[in-house]
Amino acid sequence: MNEHETKADETLDPADWNELRALGHRMIDDMIDFLARLRERPVWRSVPEEVKQKLREPLPEEPQGLDRAYLDFIENVLPYPTGNLHPRFWGWVKGSGTVEGMLAEMLAAGMNCNVSGFDDAATLVERQAIDWLKQLLDYPIEASGLFVSGASMANLIGLAVARNTKTSRDMNARERSDLLGKMVVYGSQEMHASIDKAMELLGLGRSSLRRIAVNERFEIDVSALRSAIVEDRRRGLSPIAVVGNAGTVNTGAIDDLDALASLCEDEMLWLHVDGAFGVWAKLSTTDRERVSGLSRADSLAFDLHKWLFVPYEAGCCLVQKPDRHREAFAFTAEYLPPVRRGPSAGGVPFAEFGPQLSRGFRALKVWMTLKAFGRGRLARMIDQNLGQARYLCERIDADPRLEMMAPLSLNVVCFRFVDAALSAGELDRLNTALLFELQEDGVAVLSQTRLRGRVSLRAAITNHRSRREDFDHLLSQIVKRGPVIAARRNQEIRFE
Ligand SMILES: Cc1ncc(COP(=O)(O)O)c(C=O)c1O
Repeated sequence: MNEHETKADETLDPADWNELRALGHRMIDDMIDFLARLRERPVWRSVPEEVKQKLREPLPEEPQGLDRAYLDFIENVLPYPTGNLHPRFWGWVKGSGTVEGMLAEMLAAGMNCNVSGFDDAATLVERQAIDWLKQLLDYPIEASGLFVSGASMANLIGLAVARNTKTSRDMNARERSDLLGKMVVYGSQEMHASIDKAMELLGLGRSSLRRIAVNERFEIDVSALRSAIVEDRRRGLSPIAVVGNAGTVNTGAIDDLDALASLCEDEMLWLHVDGAFGVWAKLSTTDRERVSGLSRADSLAFDLHKWLFVPYEAGCCLVQKPDRHREAFAFTAEYLPPVRRGPSAGGVPFAEFGPQLSRGFRALKVWMTLKAFGRGRLARMIDQNLGQARYLCERIDADPRLEMMAPLSLNVVCFRFVDAALSAGELDRLNTALLFELQEDGVAVLSQTRLRGRVSLRAAITNHRSRREDFDHLLSQIVKRGPVIAARRNQEIRFE
């Protein structure tokens, strides 16, 4: 029997497009209902054991169909999100997303472009969105840019370009490894852990990262930085870069970026700015001048998925000198020859500006967010969050049962419940217990950190759904629950 006569070729496209269309419409309706009713839900709840079991089921051998897969999603996945879309989620630094972003994700997945340098509209959309971001941030328009998964990856790219700029292609392997072994990078004690990861991945090692002391506002001490550079040079080491913070993860502190830029010019060092969320202060009416120095950074890392409200994942790295940027990642391959005709001609070779060859169309959700809301509406959201942070801070200052743990810099409020009868250790345990209680009861999600050795609650306000009454609710719950937990202080306070 001839196999070509017996079987029609199969495809994964649906046999009945109309049936599929109906299910697709239902999915959109269900998600819009879910998003419209976020406020009615607990902020977070743990995944029940029976659901965990279901999510360990073995791989299906035979097709179950999209209906069944969708039912599973509705029953076992959708009810148990992280909670970051909820108006009272302010933990870590999370994004609150938008419906517009969700729909853009669907369109991008539908087009399924591989944005790696083809002559297609997706490439032009990425280029245009990056140009718009440069305009929003007052970053030099001739800079190169690349969308990546987030600020961690953008930090890695910025530092990769810094490292390569300080080495020469003519070096032999021995000379290169000698130089790599001497390279030193600087930043403040408050730098994000993604910089440590980048140091490891770049072969420079964590021990070549100097964490410089900060002042009482948690900003880098520029004179201590200058001394550290002098000392390292004296020891025969090779300083290559400084990482400036535009909004630290702990407290939202903004380093003196202009002072860092001048120091880097004097010392011939690369300035990389990690502005994961803080760059968006640039849109504010109150704090824009505080980040004006970011336009002098050689490279700039930031997220769109935190404080520009674009759904995960979306980060960006900008580099002032495109040739430096490209040199760090350019490649040649016989199977990808430069051509003048056909789909691979004329595009922007994004694949030569970062480690990924295949790249998704994350630019679309950024582009659609910028188009849908414009600078004006996004700026109003930033101002609103900044105003909410000031409001929360004022209410904390006015209440003797609460205290601020760090001066308010931007949108991160660090504070805690206090009780004069408790020791420092008991206060740490109480605040940790309070944090978990608020999370587990679905009241509000804050996160914690240690500031100068003491546990602090942290509210990082990057949420466009929060209202003032949400912060009132948070504080009323804290002052109500704090004394109840304190009264249990002779018992073991659960905090792990
Ligand atoms: C200051 C700072 N840098 C870098 C990062 C890492 O960003 P991402 O999680 O998008 O990789 C964060 C995350 O919170 C951050 O706050």
